[in-house]
Amino acid sequence: MPKAKVTFEDIGVTITVPAGTRLIEVSERVGAAITYGCREGECGTCLTQVVSGGEHLADPSVLEDQVLKDMFAPRGHRLACQAQVLDGDVVVKPA
Ligand code: FES
Repeated sequence: MPKAKVTFEDIGVTITVPAGTRLIEVSERVGAAITYGCREGECGTCLTQVVSGGEHLADPSVLEDQVLKDMFAPRGHRLACQAQVLDGDVVVKPA
């Protein structure tokens, strides 16, 4: 199974995870500071800045796209409960 590396810039931790893992699951595992609410892609609480490697995340769903637009989220931000890591190196930090 393909693997990906996720780095949480806020706590300086890098972890290797299987492809398809959502950022929020990785954050919970390492104790990063990404907060969340619904985990359904609706509340926007888990907004996360993708510092680099955004191309290694699955494209946002229609729902995620809409929530990001509704929140006026800056470019390079994703919902951690929705964004799945596919491969490569991804660096994130809480928004
Ligand atoms: S936790 Fe609600 S949108 Fe991610």
